[in-house]
Amino acid sequence: MSEGANEFRVASLQAVTAGEPILAEVGGTDVAVFMCQGRVIATQGQCPHAEGPLHEGEVEGAILTCPWHGWSFDLNTGQSQEDDTLVLKRYPVRIDGDDILVTL
Ligand code: FES
Repeated sequence: MSEGANEFRVASLQAVTAGEPILAEVGGTDVAVFMCQGRVIATQGQCPHAEGPLHEGEVEGAILTCPWHGWSFDLNTGQSQEDDTLVLKRYPVRIDGDDILVTL
């Protein structure tokens, strides 16, 4: 496994399933990691509305719904469905063997 300067291993591929997103802490930054339609997607850990835990949200297709107040986001783009100006921060993901690597 190789890691670049800002690339961090957040989990093994087996640790993230479609029904079980995870929260990883990477150098003090919370990152939510989803298996979404067969792809791994990493976003900011807290909801931009009021910092709800996004990894505890429901995912249907590519739409993530925050568990606190139900705002929803397209995981493919980060775009909020309620507010055009809100976009989740997404982090580049690379799979290396069994490892999920995220670049911050
Ligand atoms: S904290 Fe996510 S919708 Fe309010």
